[in-house]
Amino acid sequence: MVRVRPAKPDDAAAVARIYVETWRSVYAGVVPDRVLTQMSQVRQSLAWRREIGMRGGRRILVAELGDAGVVGFVGVGPSRCGPLPFDGEIHTLYISDDFQGRGIGRALLEAGLGTLKEKGFAAAVVWVLSANPARYFYEAMGGRRVAERNEPLWGTVLRETAYGWPDLVRRLEDGVNGARDS
Ligand SMILES: CC(C)(COP(=O)(O)OP(=O)(O)OC[C@H]1O[C@@H](n2cnc3c(N)ncnc32)[C@H](O)[C@@H]1OP(=O)(O)O)[C@@H](O)C(=O)NCCC(=O)NCCS
Repeated sequence: MVRVRPAKPDDAAAVARIYVETWRSVYAGVVPDRVLTQMSQVRQSLAWRREIGMRGGRRILVAELGDAGVVGFVGVGPSRCGPLPFDGEIHTLYISDDFQGRGIGRALLEAGLGTLKEKGFAAAVVWVLSANPARYFYEAMGGRRVAERNEPLWGTVLRETAYGWPDLVRRLEDGVNGARDS
């Protein structure tokens, strides 16, 4: 049974491991190789420990699965995308390779959207690399495609797609996929 809870500083190593592992499997051939080869679990672990300990508007939640421990995480907070009418954002969502396809992404996304709603955000958006098939996960979760942009990153330009949930209150009252959204 999966349990979603707020991250603690001691979760940083597990979060970093999942982050590096999924980046290397999902973004190979999309993000320049040097970015992936230079990723370090030690550096990531320090960065995530700081992030988890911060008292700002961002929140990290982890999914724990019995003896396997932490197998995924979601980061949420204020939107970083300016002009779109979405005040909240799913900043990051990664499930360990071996635990994908078991409903854990859904559980974390639901918890992340619920946290945003509790914090008073009215709507939420997520930006995903357009080349990442995970974008269809957000469609399956009731997200609507709301924008596209070209992001200059690491000396290249990456296409990104945004999925939005325009009304968090109505969506969560309607249930998992936002029944009235379809
Ligand atoms: C994308 C990701 C978060 C989804 O989490 P998951 O635990 O594998 O997905 P779930 O098992 O919770 O799936 C929930 C639903 O979404 C659907 N789904 C999941 N991934 C999908 C995909 N790539 N395309 C279409 N539908 C998808 C599932 O079929 C399921 O539908 P159902 O409940 O009707 O059967 C996870 O696979 C992941 O971390 N991928 C690699 C990292 C990544 O790309 N993260 C996103 C960065 S923006």
